[in-house]
Amino acid sequence: MPMITLSPSGKTWEAPVGATLLAALADAGDPIGGKCEGNGKCGACHVFILEGRKGISKTTRQENETLDALVGVSSKSRLACQVTLGEEPITIEIPQL
Ligand code: FES
Repeated sequence: MPMITLSPSGKTWEAPVGATLLAALADAGDPIGGKCEGNGKCGACHVFILEGRKGISKTTRQENETLDALVGVSSKSRLACQVTLGEEPITIEIPQL
């Protein structure tokens, strides 16, 4: 199971391979609100993947379109509902609004 680290708090937890990052955050008690039921359209689950980007699912066209409409995105931006976890550990940061 991949280890997830939340920056800057340093909180870590494990989540099942194949789970979405959105579900993993909710399971860890750090849910982030989504308004599109995990369909990659609202952008409310924007996170930065600081480490481990190669081990997660690739960005889809729909996700890219939603990210393009958000403010404050970077090359590390992903939508947590569209990230499927692999075997590799990842470090993430939730942007402050
Ligand atoms: S929950 Fe809406 S984009 Fe992720």
